[in-house]
Amino acid sequence: MSTPSPTIRYAHVDKSFDGGRVQALRDVSLDIAEREFRCIVGGSGSGKTTLLRLANRLIDADNGVVSVAGEDVCSVDPIRLRRSVGYVFQSAALFPHMTVAGNIGITPSLLGVAPKETAERADELLTLVRLDATRYRDRYPHELSGGEKQRTAVARALAAKPRIVLMDEPFGALDPLTRDALADDYHALHDELKLTTVMITHDMTEAIVLADRIAVMQAGTMVEEGTPSALAVSRNDYVGELLRTPRRQTQRLNAVLKDAS
Ligand SMILES: Nc1ncnc2c1ncn2[C@@H]1O[C@H](COP(=O)(O)OP(=O)(O)OP(=O)(O)O)[C@@H](O)[C@H]1O
Ligand SMILES: [Mg+2]
Repeated sequence: MSTPSPTIRYAHVDKSFDGGRVQALRDVSLDIAEREFRCIVGGSGSGKTTLLRLANRLIDADNGVVSVAGEDVCSVDPIRLRRSVGYVFQSAALFPHMTVAGNIGITPSLLGVAPKETAERADELLTLVRLDATRYRDRYPHELSGGEKQRTAVARALAAKPRIVLMDEPFGALDPLTRDALADDYHALHDELKLTTVMITHDMTEAIVLADRIAVMQAGTMVEEGTPSALAVSRNDYVGELLRTPRRQTQRLNAVLKDAS
């Protein structure tokens, strides 16, 4: 039996900005399998967002190939590509002048889905992300909490029934309880809808708990990738240090809390 080809493949990808002055990605190769939950971690400016933007062709690679579902993204109609790839931006980035239902329905409307059907789909998606449709569908983004905005952004990313969802630090700006609840809810959706998810996060605990596999970026290169437990015993100092952060923090917390009791 042949191994299924990966859903997303980066092969020797280079990307620079400002006429080559900023080398954002250097010879990056990475395979993401169908139905995988992949987290991308690494310092600020290491190239994580750049990597994600290449997959739905918000930008093009200088060298190398990015393919989605076996097709080079440069040879696919960008509209069709973006329909099969949902994107949740670093900040929810909802359209401020549109209601929650309007935001969620934007892609279906642009694709020519009838208004009634689009409205029904928005309600269905609101329920899916655990927002009460009757209470939330007519609100505007400024009438939502941060967590509600992120839930709406997830619903919008799922509106065209994509197989792949790219998420750029989706829960970064939320309080820890809301963040945990949203991450758990999203993971359940990932399983239920049989999605392939690529999520950028700065939170190592979140990455270790959620991901099937983690990719570690450093200064535009892919330092290492693998399962959380394999990376936790990495010989690479940076990777090892990063993956062991949650355990180290827990130990420090335990020491402090023991003193307090
Ligand atoms: N449109 C652009 N024009 C010029 N430079 C850019 C552009 N986009 C990204 N860069 C540069 O490319 C490098 C990688 O940026 P990228 O946004 O991918 O980092 P990141 O890992 O997502 O960082 P963060 O964790 O802070 O979001 C940075 O040096 C950044 O300044
Ligand atoms: Mg980024």
